Amino acid sequence: MKNLSILGSTGSIGTSALDIVRMYPEHFKISALTAARNMDLLARQIGEFNPELVAVLDKEKAFELSKILTGNNKPEIVFGESGFIEAASYKQSSTVLLAMVGAAGLKPALAAIEAKKQIALANKETLVMAGEIVMAKAKENQISILPVDSEHSAIFQCLQGNQQKDLKKIFLTASGGPFREKSFKSFKDITLKDALNHPTWNMGNKITIDSATMMNKGLEIIEAVHLFNVSHEKIEVLIHPQSIVHSMVGYKDGSVMAQMGQPDMKAAISYALSEPDRLDLKMEFPSFTDINSLSFEKPDTKKFPSLLFAFEACRQKGTMPAVMNAANEVSVELFLNKHIEFLDIFKLISKAMKDHTCIDNPDLSSIIKADLWARDKVRSQV
Ligand SMILES: NC(=O)c1ccc[n+]([C@@H]2O[C@H](COP(=O)([O-])OP(=O)(O)OC[C@H]3O[C@@H](n4cnc5c(N)ncnc54)[C@H](OP(=O)(O)O)[C@@H]3O)[C@@H](O)[C@H]2O)c1
Repeated sequence: MKNLSILGSTGSIGTSALDIVRMYPEHFKISALTAARNMDLLARQIGEFNPELVAVLDKEKAFELSKILTGNNKPEIVFGESGFIEAASYKQSSTVLLAMVGAAGLKPALAAIEAKKQIALANKETLVMAGEIVMAKAKENQISILPVDSEHSAIFQCLQGNQQKDLKKIFLTASGGPFREKSFKSFKDITLKDALNHPTWNMGNKITIDSATMMNKGLEIIEAVHLFNVSHEKIEVLIHPQSIVHSMVGYKDGSVMAQMGQPDMKAAISYALSEPDRLDLKMEFPSFTDINSLSFEKPDTKKFPSLLFAFEACRQKGTMPAVMNAANEVSVELFLNKHIEFLDIFKLISKAMKDHTCIDNPDLSSIIKADLWARDKVRSQV
C-alpha cells in the first residue's frame, strides 16, 4: 500500500491519478490533496478519498471549503505556499505526485525531496526553473524522480536495461499541436478557442496553450536534459501527429527503442506510481492495422520559435531557463485572459530573454528573483 500526496488533485493529471487510485484501492491510499480554486471538486474528492490533510490557495478558499464540508470526517485544511509545502512533506505520505501547474510547484517539490518522498513529477516547470538544484537535492537525499510526462516516461522506459554511456540520441516526439498545418501568415488570426482545441491530448488550459505554441516541447527539452543528465545537443524534436510513439532513445549501435501506446496520460501516471510493476488499466493497444502510417517530420522553428528559445536557454543555462519559463507563464495567462494575441506570446518571451542578464550557477533565491523579474518585464510590455 502506497500513501500518496497528490498536489493539484483537481487538474487534468490529478483527476486521472485519482481514477487510478479508484481502480486500485488495495494499492493506494490518499493522505493529502491540494487544489487552488476548485473547492466543489476538491470537496467531492475529500468525500470519496478521505485525505487527512488538504491544502488550498489562500485563507478565503480554506474558509469556502470548510463551509462546503459537512460531517465529522473533515481533514485538516491548510493554505498558501506553506500549506502546499506541508502537503508535499506530509509525514504519512511515501509518494508525492506533483501535478500542480506552473512555478508554484518548485518549493513543494524541494520540500518533498528534503522529506525523502518518492516523487512522481508532472510539474515540468520545476525542472525547467531549477533543474540543477532539484536533481542535486534528489541525489543527496537518495530519492528518485519518476517522470509523469508521457515523453519522459517513454524515455525512462526505453532506458531500462541499457547503459547511459551507450545513449546517442533522444528523439522527443510532439503532436505538433492544432496549428501544425496552418500557414504562418494566418497565425495572426488564431483565437483562444482555436488554441485550446488540441488534436490528440486532453489537458489543462496552460499546457494546452503551451502545446499550441510548442513551448510545451521547449519545456520538455529542458526537463529531459535534467532528468536524464544529457546535453541538449543529443535531443532532437520530431513531429509525430498520431501521438502513438511517445518518444524514442537511439543507442550507439544504431538501435532505436520506442515506447508506444494510446495518447492517454493514465499509462504514464500509473507507471510513475507503481514502477517497476505495471497496473492493468484495461486500456486498448493502438490499432496498428487501422493506423495506416506513423509519420515523423522536422518541426518548423520559423512558425514555432519556442523550440529555439528552449535550446538557447539550455546553452546559456543559469537563470535563463527560469526567465523563459516565467515569461511564458505570464504570456499564456495574458492570452488566456484575452489581453494579448497568440503571436504576442513569442514576442514577449523573446524580449524577456534578450533583456535578461543571465546569472551562472544561481542559487534558489537568484532563480526566484529572475523569475519575478521576467514576470514584471512581460507585464510591463502589455
Ligand atoms: N495534462 C496533461 O496531460 C499533462 C501532461 C504532462 C505534464 N503535465 C504537467 O502537469 C502539470 C499539471 O497540468 P494539468 O494539465 O493537470 O493542469 P490543470 O488541469 O490546469 O491543473 C492544475 C492543478 O494545479 C492547481 N493549481 C493551479 N494554480 C495553482 C497555484 N498557483 N498553486 C497551487 N496549485 C495550483 C489547480 O487547482 P484548481 O483546479 O483548484 O485551480 C489544479 O489542481 C503541469 O505542470 C503540466 O505541464 C500535464
